[in-house]
Amino acid sequence: MEYKNNILEQIGETPLIKINKINKGLKPQIFAKLESANPGGSVKDRIGYNMIIDAEKKGELKPGGTIIEATSGNTGIGLAITAAVKGFKTVFVVTDKVSAEKINYLKALGGEVIVVSNLVDPEDPEYYVNVAKRIHKETPNSIFAYQYSNPSNPEIHYKTTGPEIWRQTDGKITHFVSSIGTGGTISGTGRFLKEKNPEIKVIGADPLGSIFKHYKDTGELIKGTPYLVEGIGQDCLPKNVHFQYIDEIINVSDKTSFAAARRLTKEEGIFCGGSTGTIVHVTLELAKELTEDDIVVFVVCDTGERYLSKVHNIDWLKMNRMLDTEVVTLRDISDAKKVRGIEDIVSVKPEAKVKDVVQLINEKGFSNIPVMKGKKAMGCISENKLMRKLLENPELLDTSVMDVTEECFPTLDAKTELYEVKNILKDNSAILVSDFGLITDIITRYDLINFDSGK
Ligand SMILES: Cc1ncc(COP(=O)(O)O)c(C=O)c1O
Repeated sequence: MEYKNNILEQIGETPLIKINKINKGLKPQIFAKLESANPGGSVKDRIGYNMIIDAEKKGELKPGGTIIEATSGNTGIGLAITAAVKGFKTVFVVTDKVSAEKINYLKALGGEVIVVSNLVDPEDPEYYVNVAKRIHKETPNSIFAYQYSNPSNPEIHYKTTGPEIWRQTDGKITHFVSSIGTGGTISGTGRFLKEKNPEIKVIGADPLGSIFKHYKDTGELIKGTPYLVEGIGQDCLPKNVHFQYIDEIINVSDKTSFAAARRLTKEEGIFCGGSTGTIVHVTLELAKELTEDDIVVFVVCDTGERYLSKVHNIDWLKMNRMLDTEVVTLRDISDAKKVRGIEDIVSVKPEAKVKDVVQLINEKGFSNIPVMKGKKAMGCISENKLMRKLLENPELLDTSVMDVTEECFPTLDAKTELYEVKNILKDNSAILVSDFGLITDIITRYDLINFDSGK
């Protein structure tokens, strides 16, 4: 008889699949590391298994214990598979961005699922990680797996994913492309590959709106803005992102990621989700600069079955203006601006003084500054009007910004079409962009002119 003793023995040793069509005209050989071939359909089966085994070895997880995790779904599935085999209970905290398929999958594996809002800041007690920590404190005989800083996460990629790719490419790999969510995949695999050959380049694929690329390039932490691709990018820095093993990070918009995921599926028959699309786009862009001697390996993070109601659903794509044939929207203008590297909204808090705004106007050269409480706009300050007021009454400098704050610029949804944006900017010097119910950007006439001229 030939069999495995349980489903856990099926984790890892995923195949490399040669890419043959979407790379037409490009010189290097490109291979997909098919992590969707794991029993739970994602790269996270590896870490789910390892985090539980390590917690058992350390004596932190005892028989009958409960595993708690904050997850975008896949890690939950990975943990739930190992927990099912080993008889542990599981509780998962997910945000309302996570697809219904993943939530039902977790429940099918016996997990308890708690859904919280995606629209809260990491400092908020209702942030999904904070909720998971609270449940862990309240649950006796439980562990909080915490994939973001748990060393068992990058370690399993160092011990398995990296060596597999090295062996499968006969040590010839020159470039490794991965997304960055917790950082486990890129940090562990990247470390192993670079230890074998420091010349191997490790490239991170990051959604527009995430903070990783900006941090890698500048060392500066900015506030992230929401995006639709699931599981990757962050609005804070997880401990498991080891930037020393990452050579470069490239930003990709939601629309481009979804288009690439659909191409990999349609043309190569490799059914994948949005985060793989982000990686595929970066891989193809990178390959344009490479030669016949280069061998690129990218990660297929999970299966497209998990996104049948989203990335692979035309109605959902249309509703979110995510098809290439769609009209241009305010989100496209905002994304184009972010690609140029301007990522954070320049704003002041309601507690600021007028002199702080004047300093900001001097430093940044912006003439329209919103007053923001968190991601909600309280009003706006225009340089023109403020200067007129200050000429009449210089003592205003020491008063609160709220004394000189005027009604806000119009707020438009990110899905608003270009022609409407143009009309509104005829009568207003700027507009605020509202996406997922939060203010995510400020667009001026200058931004629109730059967008029209393709800058
Ligand atoms: C769908 C998906 N893709 C990619 C990743 C990124 O993997 P890592 O956390 O190892 O950086 C995740 C992580 O949560 C994910 O859920």
